[in-house]
Amino acid sequence: MFTPTISIEDLTPGSKKRVTIHDLELMIVNVSGNVYATQKNCTHSDTDLTEGNLEGCVIECPQHGAMFDVTDGRVLSLPATVPLKTYPAKIENGIIMIDIPEPTVEETPETSAV
Ligand code: FES
Repeated sequence: MFTPTISIEDLTPGSKKRVTIHDLELMIVNVSGNVYATQKNCTHSDTDLTEGNLEGCVIECPQHGAMFDVTDGRVLSLPATVPLKTYPAKIENGIIMIDIPEPTVEETPETSAV
């Protein structure tokens, strides 16, 4: 389900921001007017990638320097080996919309009446 986040005016080309939707922390990135969404934290050791350096579509982790392609989550350099999760993103009426999985509702075991 596409969920509205922030205005595209708040994410200029070449910039990135963190957003939280239903407890899911994401990084949204504007690469030359196209928006992309990935998990916020590095897959190597959970560092916040929004603090890293963005060059074109490549984000560099500020902790140990792993690089990822934000357009598809691919790992471009070690020490990370696991790609970033990515989420479909689009702009609708000036708002960045991200397609995230529906929050799961945990079933609680039935309790017996006393
Ligand atoms: S935490 Fe990102 S490369 Fe180590």
